[in-house]
Amino acid sequence: MQDDGDIISRPHDRRSFLKAGLAATGSATVGTALLARATAASAQTGGLTPGDAAMLQFLAAGEAIEADFYSQYNELGGIQDDEVPGRTGNPVYTRHLARIDPNFSQYIHDTADDEISHRNFLNAYLVANGAAAVDMEPFRTLPGSAATGSTGSLRLTNLMQLTVDTSWWTRYRSSTNNPDVNPTTFEQAVPDLHNGQFTAIPRTDDDLQPSQHIQAIANTAAFQIPTVEQGGGSLRLAMAQRATSVEVLRLLISMGPIELMHFQTWSKAAGSAPPLTDPTSGLNFPHLNSGVDPNNGATGGAVKEMFQTNLIMPEPCPFIDTSLPVCSVVRPTTATATGALNFLTAMGLFIGQSPAFFTFMTNLATAADAAQRGAV
Ligand SMILES: [Fe+2]
Repeated sequence: MQDDGDIISRPHDRRSFLKAGLAATGSATVGTALLARATAASAQTGGLTPGDAAMLQFLAAGEAIEADFYSQYNELGGIQDDEVPGRTGNPVYTRHLARIDPNFSQYIHDTADDEISHRNFLNAYLVANGAAAVDMEPFRTLPGSAATGSTGSLRLTNLMQLTVDTSWWTRYRSSTNNPDVNPTTFEQAVPDLHNGQFTAIPRTDDDLQPSQHIQAIANTAAFQIPTVEQGGGSLRLAMAQRATSVEVLRLLISMGPIELMHFQTWSKAAGSAPPLTDPTSGLNFPHLNSGVDPNNGATGGAVKEMFQTNLIMPEPCPFIDTSLPVCSVVRPTTATATGALNFLTAMGLFIGQSPAFFTFMTNLATAADAAQRGAV
């Protein structure tokens, strides 16, 4: 078993990192100017506090996890080009994704591109500021899809045994409850997805038919993606409130809303997933515009508004205190790294991972959650 010291790479000397970067520019003049600016910036931030470094290290691991599962989606259902690694795609899966949204493949590709950039930037930023980068490659041990289009690479994440909590659907439509203020149990949009294990990608070519089966797999992807993105946005905004460095704060509030842009786009796509029942697994995607609560069969105007697919703009809700007027805000903004890790684990995203993986991630989350603004 590899210990944490091997996986979190040793801090590089900041100056040598900058020099290496500058050597790549091939211009001594530009290099000197950049070095002067970088040194001034370093003097302003004074390096990272342990809390800031720990939050960014957890996020670096999280971005590697996101980059991994989006790469799996992209190989099978995304745009195949040199920007995001892939090969041929899977035409049948891709066609069923397009029945949800004709731009699904483009959105997968571009979200993957974003997450890969987040992972690379965070690790480079950590090293540039004298902290350790996070290397998740030792945990790339899971077999992925064997369907046409898969590169057959080993994976960090498992998209084939998912249990998806779709309660964000009603959480963002509730005008009466905010998990930060007056928590309640928010209803599921697709109750079956939260009650079983389902694949979001074709596992083998056997999953490519019948059509209703591969459509249910595509639909599962359409709900799994925003489920991750809403949590990612909340976590970064929660961390921002505990950042000490203004530059780390800038980083968190610049990257967090990208996750929420993903969430908004993908939540709209999820609403276009065609209602159906998978004849193979029995997984049901309900008619969300029918005015019937898919959890209990209730009807009425309030039920209709809670599930209607075009109501994707966040409903104003309680914020800070119920004595104040309702306000349209991200919810929650008190998320923790440990909570995020537990959420993704409960999703089944890490089924098959080693005990060393869970120990490593738990340690990163615990350190991130200990961060306090102003602590040195
Ligand atoms: Fe990201």
